[in-house]
Amino acid sequence: MKHSLFIAFFLCLGSFASAQQLTSPDGNLSLEFMEQADGVPAYRLDYKGKPVLTSGRLGLLTEEADLTRGFKQTNLERASVDNYWNPVWGEYNRVRNHYNEMTVTLEQPETGRILNIRFRLFNDGLGFRYELPLQRKMNYLTVKDEVTEFNLTGNHKAFCIPGDYDTNEFAYTTAPLSDIAVDMEKRIAKKSYESKAEGGLTVQTPLMMKSEDGIYLNIHEAALVDYAGMLLNVDDKQFKLSAHLTPDKLGKKGYLQLPVLSPWRTVIVSDDARDILASQLIYNLNEPCQYEDTSWIRPMKFVGVWWEMFTGEGKTWAYSDFYQAKPGITDYAKLKPNGHHPANTAHVKEYIDFASAHGIDGILVEGWNEGWEDWASYRKDRQFLFNKAYPDFDVKELQRYAKEKGVQMVMHHETAANAADYERQLDEAFQFMVDNGYHAVKTGYVGYIIPRNEYHSSQWMNNHYIHVARRAADYKVMVNSHEAVRPTGLCRTYPNWLAQESARGGEFETMGGNDPDHTCILPFTRLKGGPMDYTPGIFETRLSYYNGEKPNERVHTTLVKQMALYMTMPSPIQMIADLPSNYARFPDAFRFIEDVAVDWDNSWYLEAEPGDYITVARKAKGKNEWFVGGITDENSRTATIPFSWLPEGKQYIATIYEDGKDADWDTNPQSYRIRKVVVTPKSVLKQKLAASGGVAISIKEADKAEMKGLKTIR
Ligand code: NOJ
Ligand code: CA
Repeated sequence: MKHSLFIAFFLCLGSFASAQQLTSPDGNLSLEFMEQADGVPAYRLDYKGKPVLTSGRLGLLTEEADLTRGFKQTNLERASVDNYWNPVWGEYNRVRNHYNEMTVTLEQPETGRILNIRFRLFNDGLGFRYELPLQRKMNYLTVKDEVTEFNLTGNHKAFCIPGDYDTNEFAYTTAPLSDIAVDMEKRIAKKSYESKAEGGLTVQTPLMMKSEDGIYLNIHEAALVDYAGMLLNVDDKQFKLSAHLTPDKLGKKGYLQLPVLSPWRTVIVSDDARDILASQLIYNLNEPCQYEDTSWIRPMKFVGVWWEMFTGEGKTWAYSDFYQAKPGITDYAKLKPNGHHPANTAHVKEYIDFASAHGIDGILVEGWNEGWEDWASYRKDRQFLFNKAYPDFDVKELQRYAKEKGVQMVMHHETAANAADYERQLDEAFQFMVDNGYHAVKTGYVGYIIPRNEYHSSQWMNNHYIHVARRAADYKVMVNSHEAVRPTGLCRTYPNWLAQESARGGEFETMGGNDPDHTCILPFTRLKGGPMDYTPGIFETRLSYYNGEKPNERVHTTLVKQMALYMTMPSPIQMIADLPSNYARFPDAFRFIEDVAVDWDNSWYLEAEPGDYITVARKAKGKNEWFVGGITDENSRTATIPFSWLPEGKQYIATIYEDGKDADWDTNPQSYRIRKVVVTPKSVLKQKLAASGGVAISIKEADKAEMKGLKTIR
């Protein structure tokens, strides 16, 4: 790999003009830093000569120090960086980190306090953060507010979910900023652990927007470490956004001790929506991988004793119906089994057989451990034990059987949001995993957090998730966290943190559903922070929620779109979420899910429009296998798929899994067709996608015999 590194420093001391300029390497973006009246720091951002963010304030307000005004600029440093790094897994095997940097040093003459603001301009956007170096006049700070503003140039179309301190599991609103309040109110999914942000109108990040003149903007944060998660206040009259830090329940928005580096505030910008999806800016702003040896980190596909608890089969996580059982205290062997507990040895073995027969790496089993009899949430100081299996789940026998069949067991740690107790048990829990052959864990934080003064996105919890990922690494364990704060690219630094949920996932198809455009939005929003465990691959689209409570639930896609999600929702850990019995009914379509990769050498976004459609091609890591996935929202469409990204001079056989002619997510979701064609780098395929439909294509180098009789796409 060729690494080129170019760093230039220009140290300018002495007098400063009132405004400082920084441009991106390609010159398309330019940033201006200025001091407003009263020594208030501010910035603006232009793209291709037009403003995208007008002058907005910067600064931090703390109980001990007001770092929002009264500043004089005393120093300015510039640097340029152009190098490459190799992610452990991901959409690309090599990422370019190319930016120009400007660091402004601000001093308050009256207090002697110093604040640095570091700006980085990439070709695809801006990152900036606050830095408080060690200094005599400040040490401990209690954050009251961050005043960072993102002042927009108009009433952009926004793709957003309501601001909430605990959850991101909402349906998206797509509306001009002036109308989001009305629409979000209608769509707020009532959740038992919802904690709506206080104050006026707020939204979560990543926030995706499109201006009237076709500029795409994505606002988020990178490297959320030892700091509160950021929401955005929205002024829907003036179209101004500002940082809204998640408080704890005492109202404090963070506790800092110098030196401090805030997370990066990120603004990805382009006039081509495909660039937003391809952008690696958030990863670039995170620290490099902290582990020397990453050979144990292995992307994977897995099945789970899981979906049957959501669908109408009346299965439970709990072993018995005795709701007063207490983990570690009750003798579970004396309880009467409820007879509908699928996490039992015999049933898990069926899943192991299925995974083994289909080359699927792992199997997750939920409801294996003591504690599911009640769900007391924050009222109970101990909900689960992570080293004590139910009487009908034979850990050792399953370890033996899984090993014999070449399948990995995936652990489940539902903490019921009791992070404090999880930390107490963590070492025992990971040791128990290692002793029993588990190297991946799905964690969960359903409910109100213990410690009881915390939210899912407050500073203490943000540190908790990182602590878990790092401690897991000590045991060579990979983590897939559910209900954690939405990601900010930290999986670059801790690549055993393979994925998170932190959004409304596939499970919601059993609870009111996900709109047909939901997965056409997520890659522009939630996924900018990192991969999502969306749980795709639901082939049986008619559902009824647990125990038949809601008998008429359904998947809001065609069957083929479920396949395409493996491409458009990239993740190094992908669930094959449906029941084995449903896959058995569609063995030819299931082939794609068996074949599709989860780790990539390269990716090419071919078509994209937030909320409408995405088409992407990828090359499997270390293999001459390529895959294409395309999805659309409620509107059927014809995708135009070029193959110019395939290596020249060869022919290829493409197996196309497409919506049937009569397919429609609403009326005929399971209609599909499979055909094989020959393609070359010159081919351009016009491919019809049904309403909320998709296309999934697997591609291999052609061998002459196989090509016989196949049509060539010109
Ligand atoms: C919510 C998670 O998203 C889901 O996947 C899991 O099955 C339940 N919590 C129980 O832990
Ligand atoms: Ca969830």
